Amino acid sequence: MTTVGIIGINGKVGQNVLAQLQKIKQPFELKTFGRNDEVPALDIAVLCTDNPVSAQLVPALKNRVKFMIDMSSEFRLTPGVPLVIPEINPHAITPKTQLIASPNCTTTGLVMSLAPLRDFYHITEAFFCSYQAISGGGKKLVDDFHTPGSLYEKNCVPLIGSIQPNGHTSEELKGLYETRKIMEWPHIKVYCHTVRVGVENAHSLGVTIKAQEPFDWLRVDVEDPKIIHYFVTFDNLLKGAAMNGRQIVELLLEKFFR
Ligand SMILES: NC(=O)c1ccc[n+]([C@@H]2O[C@H](COP(=O)([O-])OP(=O)(O)OC[C@H]3O[C@@H](n4cnc5c(N)ncnc54)[C@H](OP(=O)(O)O)[C@@H]3O)[C@@H](O)[C@H]2O)c1
Repeated sequence: MTTVGIIGINGKVGQNVLAQLQKIKQPFELKTFGRNDEVPALDIAVLCTDNPVSAQLVPALKNRVKFMIDMSSEFRLTPGVPLVIPEINPHAITPKTQLIASPNCTTTGLVMSLAPLRDFYHITEAFFCSYQAISGGGKKLVDDFHTPGSLYEKNCVPLIGSIQPNGHTSEELKGLYETRKIMEWPHIKVYCHTVRVGVENAHSLGVTIKAQEPFDWLRVDVEDPKIIHYFVTFDNLLKGAAMNGRQIVELLLEKFFR
């Protein structure tokens, strides 16, 4: 029987991955692991852990686990590691793949809205301002949010991740570089502000995109028909993480374990 393990079971994403994997019809044996658990040989492992933990676990599990799906950003931009959203780029997973990265939740919201347009328009630029929920920062941030006097209480905080030497935040740079990798559009320009808002769950993005062709639907710009404006909202813990993880597991089960 195929074995699938969830590592980081007690976190926000881990709990949601558990609920998602329980919906899969194809039979497999499900195992879960917390902070101090020894991970045995597995067919598929879903790592629901922060960057430093994933950075240690991936090489440590290399000889024991056939496929690893990592939710953290540690390996997302590593050449040779596919960054996968099954509706968009399932072909990035090949028989040689061992590690698959699942994208940033906010980037997922953007690219899921770009993908249906790609057969009709050549999109050259995207701008978004995000309204990101507290749960996107994991269980510690949720606990902080519920503590009286939290910075996030009735507030909008335009700093997610860390400030990089170029003045942009790490979260904003994910919007640029992960979009290019997932969409396989190395030249798209992505401009963004990422903002944490006092909402417990579900991210939103106000998006403006520009194409080479004029748009004839959605909310077209009043002066330039090659620009449209729209609003995206989605569950960051589901399509932005756990549901995407489940879809990758389903894809692997279908492709390699039938
Ligand atoms: N939250 C989102 O919307 C979202 C979306 C996309 C991607 N992600 C990414 O997904 C990952 C998990 O995020 P999260 O929000 O679930 O964070 P979280 O709530 O802080 O959960 C992280 C979990 O990792 C566990 N852990 C730490 N060291 C471990 C180890 N050595 N072995 C096994 N488990 C270990 C922690 O255990 P303890 O419970 O013992 O502390 C905790 O339960 C992060 O890399 C995050 O960036 C999150």
